[in-house]
Amino acid sequence: MLLGEKEWDDAAQTWLDFVRKDKDYHRDGLNNPATFELIGNTRGQTVLDVACGEGYNTRILARQGAEAVGIDFSEKMIEFAKKEEEKKRLGIRYYVMDAADLKEFPDDHFDLATCFMSLQDIRNYRKAMSEVARILKNHGRFVFSIPHPCFESIIVRGKRTNVSERYFGEMEYLLPWDMERLAKPFETLTFHRTLTDYVDALYRSKLLVLRLVEPRPTREGLLKYPHLRRHVVTPQSIIIESVKCAIELLTPSRRN
Ligand SMILES: C[S@@+](CC[C@H](N)C(=O)[O-])C[C@H]1O[C@@H](n2cnc3c(N)ncnc32)[C@H](O)[C@@H]1O
Repeated sequence: MLLGEKEWDDAAQTWLDFVRKDKDYHRDGLNNPATFELIGNTRGQTVLDVACGEGYNTRILARQGAEAVGIDFSEKMIEFAKKEEEKKRLGIRYYVMDAADLKEFPDDHFDLATCFMSLQDIRNYRKAMSEVARILKNHGRFVFSIPHPCFESIIVRGKRTNVSERYFGEMEYLLPWDMERLAKPFETLTFHRTLTDYVDALYRSKLLVLRLVEPRPTREGLLKYPHLRRHVVTPQSIIIESVKCAIELLTPSRRN
């Protein structure tokens, strides 16, 4: 079992209730509208949803006409995703797989790879990005969202701490999910990394950044979820769109 996998397996049932019963308001009122606007039209495209969880966003991609595949390292999450696919067929294929080892998939295959609010939980994110670059076609895009590294709160020596007190350096910690709207609390393994870390990992995999978005709540989101008000002034997440550029764009002196 990979590090962090057991925590997500144990959390899967609660996560399912959280996501499917309209309790994940950051997703509905903030992150999904902005991410899907950035992704744009995927009709007829081959899409890999990396760390897809129980498949909520994979199903959105498939309903929009993409040929969608979802992977996650949690067997439980994939079990729930497959059950939903059996109930309402959208043609999605799901696999239990580590994001850092996408061995089932050939090189240069997908038009788009997505990773919704998960890269921060992936231990070997650099390998995951190089795997994403491998399975993308040339000029294929990788779009991912993460909690905003400059505004998240992190756990330092067991205490919730503002990231501005400890921004530099990678930090691994157990994140307590203890909101009242959860059926029961759980903990997951997660990592704080800097924006530079993420952009450097993209660069080394020849994934070039096209656009950044720091989502603000939509009008409807604000009306439905007043809790989102603080994200009118401060972002909760950042979305990065990058493109695979197989040709050598960088001069030798800038490579290391
Ligand atoms: C916060 S959840 C997000 C799930 C999904 N993307 C969504 O938006 O509902 C993070 C997911 O990352 C998965 N995960 C973490 N590390 C992973 C890894 N190394 N390989 C594949 N999945 C991983 C977890 O199992 C979990 O389902």
